[in-house]
Amino acid sequence: MSQKLFVNSIENYLKTKNKTNLKILKMSFEKLKKTNLDRDKRYLIIKKLGKNKKDLYNKMSLIGKISNLIPQNSKKDFIVEVKPKIKILKKIKNKIDIKKKLRYHQTNVGGSIHTDGPQLEKPPKYVVMGCVNNSDRGGHSIILDSKKLYQKINKDSKLKKSLNKKFYFERRGFSGKKILNKQIFTTSKKNYIFRYLRDYINAAYDIKNKKIAPIKLQLLNRIDQLMKNKNLHKRYKLMKGDIIILNNFRLAHGRTDFSLNKKNSQRNLLRMWLKK
Ligand SMILES: [Fe+2]
Repeated sequence: MSQKLFVNSIENYLKTKNKTNLKILKMSFEKLKKTNLDRDKRYLIIKKLGKNKKDLYNKMSLIGKISNLIPQNSKKDFIVEVKPKIKILKKIKNKIDIKKKLRYHQTNVGGSIHTDGPQLEKPPKYVVMGCVNNSDRGGHSIILDSKKLYQKINKDSKLKKSLNKKFYFERRGFSGKKILNKQIFTTSKKNYIFRYLRDYINAAYDIKNKKIAPIKLQLLNRIDQLMKNKNLHKRYKLMKGDIIILNNFRLAHGRTDFSLNKKNSQRNLLRMWLKK
């Protein structure tokens, strides 16, 4: 119900550009957060929100206009295209090198289930992704509830001790200090934040020229192992014009490997990071 109200409010505002309708839109988004994004499954998919790339871009910008956006790189881009960097990918054939040189959103590699912005002091609470194009093969979105990982790890008397340890994260894509030192699971009564992108953690330890302590390594490997469990995955293939909004404090996401399409029809998602 609140999803329909939200979509109608977007259409209404774009038709009228009226201040009151903008207020209504803002209220309907806040309601959607309370009723959908902050409880139960914590994500939602709106099918065919955009009629074409321009329409999708305009509607996402409007969601940005009523939110606090977080820049996604040093250039301060607020809407970023998640699409493979074909030229570079063709030059580097090896998956490990690809993961070292590019940010995840610039590759066609699947797996690496992660949260967005783990390299930020405070990661975005919500991530919005709009689909301009998907690949012919693969490119399914994978969503996973990190609380299920937390509960399993917390039951393990040995691993439990590593939950309060801090890990280095490479601040890839951002200027200033190179490394951030944070817990993977932040849990307090008020806040629950899961922060994870294994490649950025590995890269940070390489930069520091330090080995990851065995107890920490065990935790990372256990997280990766649990994340591979398909029973914990929700899968969905976004199609042209669809958007997904997910609670990035709680859910991790990833995608399956995908094929590179012909030149102008590559998999391409538009992404925004919302502060709260
Ligand atoms: Fe992501």
